[in-house]
Amino acid sequence: MVESPVDWLQLVFNHLPLGIIVIDRRGHVRLFNNRLSMLTGYQEERVLGKPFSDLINNLDSDYNKLLQTLATGKEYQNLKPESVILLNAPSSDFRANTYAIKDKGGATVGAMALLEPAGRQQELENAVIKAEKLAILGQLATEMIHELRNPLTAISGFVQLLQQKIGRNSELEYLDIISDELKHLNRLISDFLLQAKPGYCSRTQCSINKLLTDVAALVECEASLRNLKINLETPEDPPPIKADSGQLRQVFLNIIRNAFDALPDEGQLFLQCSGDKQLGIVRVVIRDTGKGMDGQIMANMFKPFFTTKESGTGLGMFISKKIIDNHGGSIDIQSEPARGTTVTVTLPVA
Ligand SMILES: Nc1ncnc2c1ncn2[C@@H]1O[C@H](COP(=O)(O)OP(=O)(O)OP(=O)(O)O)[C@@H](O)[C@H]1O
Ligand SMILES: [Mg+2]
Repeated sequence: MVESPVDWLQLVFNHLPLGIIVIDRRGHVRLFNNRLSMLTGYQEERVLGKPFSDLINNLDSDYNKLLQTLATGKEYQNLKPESVILLNAPSSDFRANTYAIKDKGGATVGAMALLEPAGRQQELENAVIKAEKLAILGQLATEMIHELRNPLTAISGFVQLLQQKIGRNSELEYLDIISDELKHLNRLISDFLLQAKPGYCSRTQCSINKLLTDVAALVECEASLRNLKINLETPEDPPPIKADSGQLRQVFLNIIRNAFDALPDEGQLFLQCSGDKQLGIVRVVIRDTGKGMDGQIMANMFKPFFTTKESGTGLGMFISKKIIDNHGGSIDIQSEPARGTTVTVTLPVA
């Protein structure tokens, strides 16, 4: 029966997929687990309490890294196992690390060596290298995309000039198409660049009511062109939030533009804010009575480049979610085909 914590510790120790040896201040073996017995051929009961140097008499103890760790406190990583202890069969599949064991005062009272399969270390190293490569590639892509803006601005300028110079004829149509596509490209670049620095934002205390009122004013003109009715409801002033107001404005604009796209002319949009002091949150609900979404669209709407629109980039909701996540909030969607969509943004109060 395994009862005491010490018994359990012993079991765990022997089942670890690592070879472990611990020596005390005098260089005597204090712990020697099963895995190391299998690797070296020494039985635990024969080595416990014996001088470690007896196990390595065929090695020059001056060069033994475990003894060096004991003498100097210096730790070694990624060694060949033979630098610590001789294995049954020379093996490149294992690597050894040594560690100094220190008391509360920082004095070295022993030393430990761990022998672990080399594969795992290699896997870890490969994963780190891959992540670094991806980070560098991401940075290069960001720089390159940033640089694309300069020639694009020049091309857009000349296209505008040509549009003014060429009279109303069929060629002007081509220029209009070029101009529209350039705008599309510019938006893609802006969205990408914003996305490339998701952590960056400058937060100040702001009122969610004011933010939503400003956004409603911004889209008022667009709405009146299509006879869309915006119902803004901001009952009492909810508690202030700490946020990057520019980024939040972008989120609400994205959501409202989606609602406009889903609404038929003369449709209705409902904007509402509220606060819950007890829960420490503010809520913005944006509801449209538009075409709604089926399950497949709902499942994909936050994925980058997912769009059901001819001229959509499919980045609006992806970026909005990133921004809200960065603010410690959440976005919830409820939608029904042909009935409409309700988007609820929840944010923590300041
Ligand atoms: N209120 C809504 N009603 C119906 N469908 C919606 C609504 N909001 C989002 N969607 C669906 O989710 C998709 C993704 O939205 P998202 O805002 O990310 O991209 P988009 O609007 O297509 O393009 P853009 O990048 O220009 O915003 C939309 O194409 C649309 O199918
Ligand atoms: Mg959108």
